[in-house]
Order: sequence, then C-alpha cells, then structure tokens
Amino acid sequence: MLRAPPQTLQRPRPRSRPLSPAPRCSNDPAPAAAGSIRRLVLPPEGRAKLDPRPDRDFYAFPRLVTHVDDGFIATLTDLYRERLKPGWDVLDLMSSWVSHLPPEVQFRRVVGHGLNAQELSRNPRLDYFFVKDLNREQELELESGCFDAVLCTVSVQYLQSPEKVFAEIFRVLKPGGVCIVSFSTRMFYEKAIGAWREGTANSRVQLVTQYFQCVEGFTQPEVIRKLPSPGGLPGSPLDAVMRLFAGMASSDPFYAVISYRNFKPM
Ligand SMILES: C[S@@+](CC[C@H](N)C(=O)[O-])C[C@H]1O[C@@H](n2cnc3c(N)ncnc32)[C@H](O)[C@@H]1O
Repeated sequence: MLRAPPQTLQRPRPRSRPLSPAPRCSNDPAPAAAGSIRRLVLPPEGRAKLDPRPDRDFYAFPRLVTHVDDGFIATLTDLYRERLKPGWDVLDLMSSWVSHLPPEVQFRRVVGHGLNAQELSRNPRLDYFFVKDLNREQELELESGCFDAVLCTVSVQYLQSPEKVFAEIFRVLKPGGVCIVSFSTRMFYEKAIGAWREGTANSRVQLVTQYFQCVEGFTQPEVIRKLPSPGGLPGSPLDAVMRLFAGMASSDPFYAVISYRNFKPM
C-alpha cells in the first residue's frame, strides 16, 4: 500500500485504475542492518551549493526542455529496454515532463517524483506523481519493498543528503530490485553540490558508486560509460576534424551506475 495520504500523490490525468487499493507489497525479510547507512560519503563543504535558495523556488516555473541530447536519451532508453521488465512497478525519482522509458514496454505502475507539479502532470508515462524537496526531507511517503526499479536521470548532482536518499531508495525497492542512476556532464552549475561541481567525470562516477556502497545491502555497483567519439559520430579522424570545422557539437557523454537490492545481506 502507498503510505502517502491521498492528497500528496497526484494523478496527471483521469485513469481507469484507481489509486486504492495499491498493489500488495512484500514483507521486508531483511535484518535490521540492511538499508542502514554505514558511513557518510560527503564532507559538509561537498554538500554546499552556490545558490542557497530553496530548490523549490528554483523549480517554481516549469522547464519544458530536454536536459541531454538525443544520443544520451537513446542510450538510456536502450539500457532500460535491457534491464527493466514489462509488468514492473517503477519509481522515477527527480523526474520531469519527459520519460525515457521504452514506449513499447507496459509497466504495471510508474510513479513519478519531482519538484514541479506542472512538469510532472505533462509526463505521459506517469500513473501518479508526488512533489517533494529531497534536500529538505529525504523520507519518501512510500511503502517499503514496493518497486522493482528506481530510476534517477541527470539529477543526482543536486542531492545534498545522498546517503539518506539512497537508503530510502533501498527501502522502497523490492529484494532484487534495481536502481539505475544516469548522468552526463551538463548541470545547473549553481544548484549542483560542491563535490560534483569540483569533480571530474571519473570522480563523479566514484561518488555515485559510493552512494550505493554507503548503504548496507546494495550489490557492488556496475558502471556503464558511453563516451562520444571526437566530432560526435564514429568515423575517421579526418571526418572528426571536418565535423569540428562544420560546427557539429559532440554529443553528451553517458554514465550510468547500477546496483541491486540484495536478496540477503552478504
Ligand atoms: C535536470 S532535471 C532532470 C529531469 C528528468 N529526470 C529528466 O531526465 O529530464 C533535474 C530534476 O531534479 C529534480 N530536483 C532537483 N532538485 C531537487 C530536490 N531538492 N528535490 C527533489 N527533486 C529535485 C527536479 O525535479 C528536476 O526536474
């Protein structure tokens, strides 16, 4: 059952399926230590943002744009096609008006979360959504062990308490459920945390890996990188130079860090 009082979950448009009763959730068989935070990854300065205004103010108006290019989105959708199964319950954390889920795959339920209700209400894949500032409060008003997959796309750099958010991700995942965190090099610079802003591509991959590792019970994270060839498209070095002269921008590099909720603590 979703734990949220009905008013905190919003439906983007009329649906034939009612909010209640929600699907039954498995009882959590894991011992107390599973899901606990082993250590903090970030020092205080690593959590700081250049723009200290509340995030909800920054996201007060809808941004109906895509935050990465078509190549990145195609790679992500292919990854979802490979890892997510039809009939699953999916949570799209830090979502917006677009979905990167494969259009042909039918999921049982897709719940969206973000900071702007207008954006979320435009997202055609969401069955329900809720708005919550994860830098103010990290607890998700969702029952434990309810989701087969939790997704977080090009947004992890804005989390100031990632350890608590990843512990919540662990809690809402079913045993064996997967979390896929993807990102590129673009960001709202003034809203990204210091550890991200000042990092390199490799250190950001390390950071997300450590977010998983700091929570007891996630599997060893798997890293996927897809870096663009010079000039953005495969071809000879001469092609690349020609493309640079022609002003064709290189595409957004793709990074994903993937981990599963262990069935049993190791
Ligand atoms: C770059 S957008 C990415 C949106 C979407 N995942 C996508 O792929 O298009 C960053 C998103 O992070 C979310 N976000 C940023 N700060 C947040 C916060 N403090 N709490 C919750 N969500 C936040 C916002 O909902 C925003 O839409």
